[in-house]
Amino acid sequence: MTRRRRLAAGNWKMNGTSAELAEISAVITAHPAPDCEILICPPATLLERMSRDIGEAPIAVGGQDCHREEAGAHTGDVSAAMLVDAGAAYVILGHSERRQDHGETNDDVRAKARTALATGLRVVICVGETLTEREASNTLDIIGGQLAGSIPDLVTGENLVLAYEPVWAIGTGKVPTTDQIGEVHDFIRLQLEKRLGEGVALSVRILYGGSVKASNAAEIFAVSNVDGALVGGASLKAADFAPIIVALDAAGQRVPG
Ligand code: PGA
Repeated sequence: MTRRRRLAAGNWKMNGTSAELAEISAVITAHPAPDCEILICPPATLLERMSRDIGEAPIAVGGQDCHREEAGAHTGDVSAAMLVDAGAAYVILGHSERRQDHGETNDDVRAKARTALATGLRVVICVGETLTEREASNTLDIIGGQLAGSIPDLVTGENLVLAYEPVWAIGTGKVPTTDQIGEVHDFIRLQLEKRLGEGVALSVRILYGGSVKASNAAEIFAVSNVDGALVGGASLKAADFAPIIVALDAAGQRVPG
């Protein structure tokens, strides 16, 4: 069986100033040598300082978005090369808040991903259905369309991470059942196999995101094809995020190598 390195990713969204950098030091102290990979995506303003503070500790940093163009007249936007320059190894793309707040389409996400990959970033591409879509039994159709439209060619098992984030579970405290999570994650794996072939598809990590916290993490991490989590609110404080890393490490140890 392919061994995928589990990933605990924190998405700080529009939260955090330099005062909050201490939270990362606390995560490092709690997890000096984690089994899983840890990624924090702070606001762009904190990237450089956070990556400098992390130094040699095993935590990667990432951006929350980048522009589809390499550079140019795009006031307020951040390019993939700027993220790399500030120390980022990853970028989150197509988060539902970007899709909703900024009207990002699958086509935008694919174009951004192409630029990010060409710049050497790994991409965390987000997909997920709204409550209306789930209630209309359209979940798998929606996810299938987002996958087909958002993932560019030339992805590999190393540079692509998928995040399944049901829009109705983000920041709401509502979490799908483990059966619902498993159904979507198995479906995503199958779609990746069809598109990329089994070898690549089995190496891509698929994260679950949406109201993950210490109290539900172990149950979610036990679901098939869940390789980690994309965590919003509970990634802001080390006291909340560190136990999620513990749960992910423990889940990894149960998987036969
Ligand atoms: P949440 O956010 O953990 O606060 O629900 C998850 C996300 O949007 O990535």
